[in-house]
This record gives sequence, structure tokens and C-alpha cells, in this order.
Amino acid sequence: MKIVVIGGTGLIGSQVVKNLEHEHDVVAASPQTGVDTVTGAGVAEALEGAQVVVDLSNSPSFAEEDVTRFFRTSTKNLLDAEAAAGVQHHVVLSIVGTDVIDSGYMRAKVVQEDLVRSSGAAWSIVRSTQFLEFLGRIADSATVEIAGPEVFGFDEIVRTDLSDHAPRPRARAAARDRQFVA
Ligand SMILES: NC(=O)c1ccc[n+]([C@@H]2O[C@H](COP(=O)([O-])OP(=O)(O)OC[C@H]3O[C@@H](n4cnc5c(N)ncnc54)[C@H](OP(=O)(O)O)[C@@H]3O)[C@@H](O)[C@H]2O)c1
Repeated sequence: MKIVVIGGTGLIGSQVVKNLEHEHDVVAASPQTGVDTVTGAGVAEALEGAQVVVDLSNSPSFAEEDVTRFFRTSTKNLLDAEAAAGVQHHVVLSIVGTDVIDSGYMRAKVVQEDLVRSSGAAWSIVRSTQFLEFLGRIADSATVEIAGPEVFGFDEIVRTDLSDHAPRPRARAAARDRQFVA
């Protein structure tokens, strides 16, 4: 089977390519390899004869306007090219909680998911948790200065707050993790 991995040179894409290439004809597609889903350059050529496309691309900028433009343009171009090439299945990696977490990046992922759902193609949206490589960045984004008579580590005080407010909404999000249309 020919599988095209869009973003096949990225953090997750390169691992997916490595795992698939034992059994399939795999193309790692990205600007580095001459395939750009924003401009459309090289996309039709890469998709020729492909049965499955796995979209693991990411925006170079995470500013809301940029990332929204990236996922909207890239996903539309890709889905149109897949329809023209007769690709049978579109797989896209998304993130657990995209529709409940309030961030510009997550809103852009919702735009991407909605385009895939309404495309009329056969699709799989796989919602993954954030990768371990991102733990440092996530922790850094939540670093705060705390003043007062009692001193807590951020992990400690968040854990206390979470245990005081069960059940958490994340159980509902997890139930919607994976959606498949054959
Ligand atoms: N990181 C996480 O924790 C996480 C968790 C869940 C889901 N996801 C999702 O997984 C996907 C990949 O994330 P990642 O962290 O692996 O990204 P990444 O390491 O930043 O890799 C991005 C990939 O996208 C390619 N790309 C950039 N612009 C492109 C374009 N115009 N056309 C085609 N390809 C383009 C890059 O190609 P070049 O190398 O040529 O620049 C690279 O291969 C994203 O959609 C993200 O939302 C990530």
C-alpha cells in the first residue's frame, strides 16, 4: 500500500514513517522533500497512486491567525488533491481536548477537524495527548510567581485543587478521543 505522510520529517511524522516503511511504500512529504500543502507545490505528484494520506503537518508559527490559516489552507488543498488522486482514506492527528481547551492553537485544530469531517472522504481523526517532548514547554507556560505565607510547588497545589473538584470534565473528552468513519 502506498501511504503518504504529510509532515513526514517532523517529530511524530518521522517516527510514523519509520514504523510504516517496513510494510508499506511510504512517502515522507514536507517542504524539505519538495511537498508544500500550503502552496500546493509537489502535492499532486506525491499523492499519485496513494491509498492513504496521514496528515502530521504543523504550522511553523503558533500565533492563532497563522496557525488557523495554515490548517485551513493546508487541509483544504490536501483534501482536494486527495479527491483528485482517488486517495481512499485521510488520517489526521489531533489533540485530546481540542474542543474544550481555550487556546488559539486548539481552535485552529478544531477548524482542521471540521474540514476533514465535512469533506465527504473516508477519514480518521486520532486525538493524542501531548507528547512527552512538550512537557517542558507546557510546564514553562504555566510557571507563576507565588507570594504569601505558605509556599507550594505548582505541581502540589494543582494536584490539591484537582482532587478537590472531581469529577473532572476530561473523562468526557477522553470518551470522544477517537472517531472513525469507514
Ligand atoms: N506535539 C504534540 O505533542 C502533539 C500532540 C498531538 C497532536 N499533535 C499534532 O501532530 C501534528 C505534528 O506535530 P509535530 O509536533 O510532529 O510537528 P513538527 O515536529 O513541528 O513537524 C511539522 C511537520 O510539518 C511539516 N510542514 C510544515 N509546513 C508544511 C507545509 N506547508 N506543507 C507540508 N508540510 C509542512 C514540517 O516539514 P519541514 O520539516 O519540511 O519543515 C514537518 O515535517 C500537528 O498537527 C499537531 O497538532 C502534536
